[in-house]
Amino acid sequence: MPDSFEVAASTGSYRVTIAPGLLQAALAKPRQAVFLVDAMLAGPLVEAGLDPIVLVADETAKSLDRMAEVIVAMRERRATRETVLVAIGGGAVQDAAAFAASIYMRGIAWVYVPTTLLSMADSCIGGKSSINVGTYKNIVGTFHPPIEVVVDTALTASLSAEQKAAGLCEAAKICLCRGRDTFERYLALRPAADANEAALTEIVALSLHAKKWFIEVDEFDRAERLLLNFGHTFGHALEAASGFGISHGIAVGLGMLAALHLGEALGRDYTRAPHVTAFRAHVATLVGTVNGLAEVLARVETPALMDAFAGDKKHTRDSFAVIVVAENGSVERRLLPRDPDTEAMIQRAFAGMLASCPRTAPSLVEAA
Ligand SMILES: NC(=O)c1ccc[n+]([C@@H]2O[C@H](COP(=O)([O-])OP(=O)(O)OC[C@H]3O[C@@H](n4cnc5c(N)ncnc54)[C@H](O)[C@@H]3O)[C@@H](O)[C@H]2O)c1
Ligand SMILES: [Zn+2]
Repeated sequence: MPDSFEVAASTGSYRVTIAPGLLQAALAKPRQAVFLVDAMLAGPLVEAGLDPIVLVADETAKSLDRMAEVIVAMRERRATRETVLVAIGGGAVQDAAAFAASIYMRGIAWVYVPTTLLSMADSCIGGKSSINVGTYKNIVGTFHPPIEVVVDTALTASLSAEQKAAGLCEAAKICLCRGRDTFERYLALRPAADANEAALTEIVALSLHAKKWFIEVDEFDRAERLLLNFGHTFGHALEAASGFGISHGIAVGLGMLAALHLGEALGRDYTRAPHVTAFRAHVATLVGTVNGLAEVLARVETPALMDAFAGDKKHTRDSFAVIVVAENGSVERRLLPRDPDTEAMIQRAFAGMLASCPRTAPSLVEAA
């Protein structure tokens, strides 16, 4: 039986269905649809004569310039206000589809079929789109939830171990943020980069049920949902300073490890919260599956890292907004004054994370 539930949003609720093998039925549904698909997965749609708009899923796919091409392609396929845009792909295709659907003829409905573990376990619900402009990543966007999310976990079969690890970093984050019980249920599902389809299906369902709570209680990122930024300020800095040589989910995993070091620098002792110790070991194992990560990290320079950290859009003029783990394992938002002491502490947190990762980058550790 597929797991199926509704997510309530200000624009109306939408249904999420999770099971292996759902894609075929999503393609066959009789509705006035235009398809937008990741180039890797376009074959079956082309063969079925669906004339999809095909996107090569990289960061340029979700740039503002490319949005014009998507809009023209939709118009050429005679999309009207009644058309449903059906998007099949990972987070890059999701961002492009959500944004295009939110502005085409002042907004049309869209359906999302996530195809990476990260998009299945995390980004497919929540309604956000984030688009790159120039060299600025995710600088513009809209809230435009889909009318339906169809999660076909059989699509995980073609994902690499690294792609699975990246998705699991976000799933682990959501479950830890929801609380100790949820994180322990997550660990009991034996999450690992080589987990099979049945385990991944259960992990996706647990993660999405946990995320549903956050987005329903705080749809527009004002309080509780901000906690899901755990690992993201450090993570975005690592993504940017590595020239996007580290994928988003893995950068978030490294970012959460850095945030735990920051918590310790702030005086927290996690030895009394065994699930935090288990979380740390689990995330370290996940990021440890990435080939060549040490080499990429070795090329990251501290000034670029600190600049990217300081420039994060979540900070205020006077404070750094960080998500840290409390001593009992709950996740909380803290504002730290923007001063040299805090900057030194942030730099030590990055260095502590790097030193604790296997095959670390020595230049950065020394720099701190
Ligand atoms: N809007 C949101 O809420 C949100 C949240 C998190 C991340 N994001 C964005 O999502 C993007 C990252 O998304 P992502 O990690 O899902 O990956 P992605 O869409 O960038 O795709 C990564 C790679 O995986 C491939 N791929 C996709 N499905 C596959 C499959 N089933 N088998 C094998 N390969 C497959 C793609 O072709 C691509 O090469 C980033 O741009 C990030 O900013 C958005
Ligand atoms: Zn994320």
